[in-house]
Amino acid sequence: MLSGKKILLGVTGSIAAYKAAHIVRALIKSNAEVKVIMTESACDFITPLTLSTLSKKPVAIEFIKDEESGEWENHVDWGIWADLMLIAPCSANTLSKLVNGNCDNLLLATYLSAKCPVWIAPAMDLDMFAHFSTQENLAKLNEHDVYIIEPTSGELASGLEGKGRMEEPEEIHDQIVAHFNPKSNLNGKQIIITGGPTYEAIDPVRFIGNHSSGITGVLLAEACAKRGAQVILVTGPTRFKTSSANIKVIPINSANEMLAAVQANWNECQIGIFSAAVADYRPAQPADQKIKKKTDAITIELVKNPDILAWAGAHKKEDQYLVGFALETENEIENGRGKLARKNLNLLILNSLNDKGAGFGHSTNKVTFIKPNNNLINFELKNKSDVAEDILNEIETDLND
Ligand code: CTP
Repeated sequence: MLSGKKILLGVTGSIAAYKAAHIVRALIKSNAEVKVIMTESACDFITPLTLSTLSKKPVAIEFIKDEESGEWENHVDWGIWADLMLIAPCSANTLSKLVNGNCDNLLLATYLSAKCPVWIAPAMDLDMFAHFSTQENLAKLNEHDVYIIEPTSGELASGLEGKGRMEEPEEIHDQIVAHFNPKSNLNGKQIIITGGPTYEAIDPVRFIGNHSSGITGVLLAEACAKRGAQVILVTGPTRFKTSSANIKVIPINSANEMLAAVQANWNECQIGIFSAAVADYRPAQPADQKIKKKTDAITIELVKNPDILAWAGAHKKEDQYLVGFALETENEIENGRGKLARKNLNLLILNSLNDKGAGFGHSTNKVTFIKPNNNLINFELKNKSDVAEDILNEIETDLND
């Protein structure tokens, strides 16, 4: 959930500092990278060893010189490194210093150089929290876009009851996850995706197929699931696996099996993304037994497969959104436009075999989006997972209109 996200956690002197261990653990479990800076008084409440063990990185406390490299802790680099800086717990003392721009420890110096969003989770006794100076400090930071994670009410370390308890680590973690994964309008949508090749049986051991690896269908399914959609992935044989709870995989072999799975589910879906490389023809009469090599030549009669995407387009309701793919080698745009209209699509993803690094067998792809209003959107060569994100972004934009 937080893969690739870099979180700088500042820990200050408050009894709630022990909860910083749970925050670090939750962030690391969600695959974030976490660096911790502590103030000296935070070390009275929790040891740096605990936080460095959990974060798997050394904890910084003072401006120190590395004896080996001769370099000083570079607070400016840390401030630039982070995608989010969280100060939790944030004591009344640190709060006041943040407002005034004080810079008498490493944490404050880093805060002053931070380029990323800064969040604070105050923790203090109820009267300290209610004090006008604390309230004014919070209002001032809020005015300058520091996000305040409101403390909760309950029993405090002093034995008193009231507002001032730091928010629970799990809740802080969940708010960070939500920040990096804003709610998508694909959330809760039912999406059907076709992917992979189809195998058309010649006899029990042979088939006509193609080189599609199935990766595009799997990446699209995972990207949809990450945005909160319920996905049905109808895929031909592929070595790529997916284990998301939001993805139901329907494995098929032939175009006819793929069509049956689509026909059984299309009506319930709001979106269809058809990326399968369906064999256009299949043997008219697959042999029941393995064909023996008795003659020098044989002829296999092929008949046309149903066009699954065209079926979905013909049965598309007003509120359904349909995406198709096209692989063209000549007159790409013109042919793509024809396909978009013929199959009643909202979006066509055009692959050109003339582009280097695109198509079967590559981890990258270069696509052009063709829209019904004659709009063309060209993309650079990208990883196939980034292409999947571009497709979903385009669908989301259209659904918002
Ligand atoms: N498709 C499909 N069923 C088929 C053939 C294609 O669902 N029997 C879908 C593919 O998944 C893709 C789109 O149709 O989304 C385009 O497929 P393509 O083979 O490029 O186009 P065709 O319509 O088959 O036209 P042509 O072979 O003439 O290029």
